[in-house]
Amino acid sequence: MSELDESLVEHVHKNYADYTYDMFMMNMSADLEEIDLFGEWFNILNDKNIYTFEAVRDAAQKPEIDLARKNGAPVHIINLSSYNYLGFSYHPEVIKAAQDAVAKYGLGASSSPVLSGTYQIHQELEHALENFFGLPDRGVSLFTAGYSVNLGVISAFIKPGHVVIMDQASHMSIVEGAKLSGGEALYFRHNDMEHLEELLKAKCDDFTRVLVCVEGVYSGDGDFGNLKDVVRLAKQYGAFTLVDEAHSALLAGENGRGVCEMQGVLEDVDLYVMTFSKAFGGVGGAVYAKKNIVKYINWYAKCRMFSCALDPAVTGGMVKVIELAGKPVGYERRARLNANAAYFRNLLQGKVNLGVSDAWVVIVNFGSEKKTLALNDYLQKSGLDTSIIQFPAVPKNDARIRMFVTSEHTQEQLAKAAEIVLSAADKFDFLLK
Ligand SMILES: Cc1ncc(COP(=O)(O)O)c(C=O)c1O
Repeated sequence: MSELDESLVEHVHKNYADYTYDMFMMNMSADLEEIDLFGEWFNILNDKNIYTFEAVRDAAQKPEIDLARKNGAPVHIINLSSYNYLGFSYHPEVIKAAQDAVAKYGLGASSSPVLSGTYQIHQELEHALENFFGLPDRGVSLFTAGYSVNLGVISAFIKPGHVVIMDQASHMSIVEGAKLSGGEALYFRHNDMEHLEELLKAKCDDFTRVLVCVEGVYSGDGDFGNLKDVVRLAKQYGAFTLVDEAHSALLAGENGRGVCEMQGVLEDVDLYVMTFSKAFGGVGGAVYAKKNIVKYINWYAKCRMFSCALDPAVTGGMVKVIELAGKPVGYERRARLNANAAYFRNLLQGKVNLGVSDAWVVIVNFGSEKKTLALNDYLQKSGLDTSIIQFPAVPKNDARIRMFVTSEHTQEQLAKAAEIVLSAADKFDFLLK
């Protein structure tokens, strides 16, 4: 090993909890040193029972569950770590619809959707989504992951010579989609419309296709996208828009059509991206766009064309979820989600740094990622599971406890969760003075 490698090994051994994601990313040599090093680090954490990730559940993502840490240690927790926002993943009618679909179509689709993998149930889901969102000139293209929607759609829509302008807080799937496209990738400061306009002014001309990518509710910051202004500016400069509503489809807007509905811009957005893994309670995703664009994406989003279609069980479950989302149960759960998020936020407001978060993704900034492991260990052992995030999901030294409030949490559970967060803030020194 080189001198550098030796000092890194020493560092990892001495400071096993002092971890940042990029520590193991560098490619150090022709052999697999970084991989061995990561394995060693992982084992040390696990032996010491402070590896807090990948804790295993043996039941659905309900508001309060038991889980087993990586080395088997059991913990009972309030679950603010899952984005099962409306509890639909375990709704009995959704489970029944999934079971019926498996009984009819079998487990897998066994082919690309463009070849022989499109089933009746896929068409039912497309039509259900088209009716739910309600614009007659739009269609739906289904994908097997939300991540793949951004990856496939951006790289199909943008070519070398074109430009992607994205919010700096955009999800990794948007960033990677932009990179894969071969177009120029530019970032504007989070929700900063002046900066966006500067970039649009510099890049838009009659010959260059420009795509602006933003989110409905930002997954790492928990605030709403400034969609009204984004759409206005994009139109003014002749750019296209992609809005990722992963954390807001079925949730925001009176009818659950997302932040686009809430801010009155549904018709103006070119590419509306949704994931089935969040409020829908399943897995997969879709893009909602003009019918011609959808036809093209079906063929030219390569991770769709060259990959197996969405499985029948999930597809059947999603059809039922959309039906429920338009019924009183959907309206009730959306209202409860909003009330729960406001209640929880209120318990933390002024005591810890909530950043700009303003929705059902509640963020508590704690600063250095060096605290992440010990802090997460403390939270879990105290009875709270969160979706803690750090670099590269968010900038360095800007690590966060991220909590997903759901419609199914009780106020007692949220009050207990807030108490644990505040006690952690006291112990790890991030209470606001
Ligand atoms: C904003 C955003 N887009 C896309 C994705 C990817 O979705 P999926 O997990 O369904 O692949 C996520 C996942 O967390 C997300 O937060």
